[in-house]
Amino acid sequence: MNDTSTSESPQATPAGPRSPTEQRFLALRVMPMPADANVHGDVFGGWIMAQVDIAGAQLAARRAGGRVATIAVNSFVFKQPVFVGDLLSFYADIVRVGRTSVTILVEVLAKRMDGAQTVKVTEATLTYVATGADRKPRPLPPEDAMLFDGD
Ligand SMILES: CC(C)(COP(=O)(O)OP(=O)(O)OC[C@H]1O[C@@H](n2cnc3c(N)ncnc32)[C@H](O)[C@@H]1OP(=O)(O)O)[C@@H](O)C(=O)NCCC(=O)NCCS
Repeated sequence: MNDTSTSESPQATPAGPRSPTEQRFLALRVMPMPADANVHGDVFGGWIMAQVDIAGAQLAARRAGGRVATIAVNSFVFKQPVFVGDLLSFYADIVRVGRTSVTILVEVLAKRMDGAQTVKVTEATLTYVATGADRKPRPLPPEDAMLFDGD
């Protein structure tokens, strides 16, 4: 556990492995509409990026016990196209915890409109900084204070 009482930046810790019983955090489920796509029905990458940012922020805010700001998009891969009518599920996982920042892996699965296939379409990692009302970084609270009720 990091000691957040000092001004020195402690070593960032990778999140430990998840137990088999632990569920991935379903941060967001949404269906893109025609306005989110080009004339061929392919959903814009920027729309997907916005949803990924929203999804990652859900888990980051729970770990931070409040407000966070996105400081970096570390990686972003569009593995498969997304189509209008896909049911998209955004799963989030904490992969790194620092003094004021938390890095989140977001995986996006698409259930195609015919319901026959679910494919991983996107994978990204983003870093969020816990911020105070003054919008400045603040230390993360201890992990056991995390607001996580399984929902
Ligand atoms: C987020 C913000 C408050 C951070 O303030 P800052 O003075 O730049 O932050 P610091 O240099 O103190 O770094 C804060 C943390 O971010 C991390 N960080 C900084 N730059 C980073 C980068 N390029 N990639 C990943 N992490 C980074 C630092 O390592 C530090 O983490 P740690 O405390 O866990 O070690 C400020 O950068 C900001 O307001 N940015 C704009 C945020 C925004 O508008 N986002 C889009 C909408 S939410």
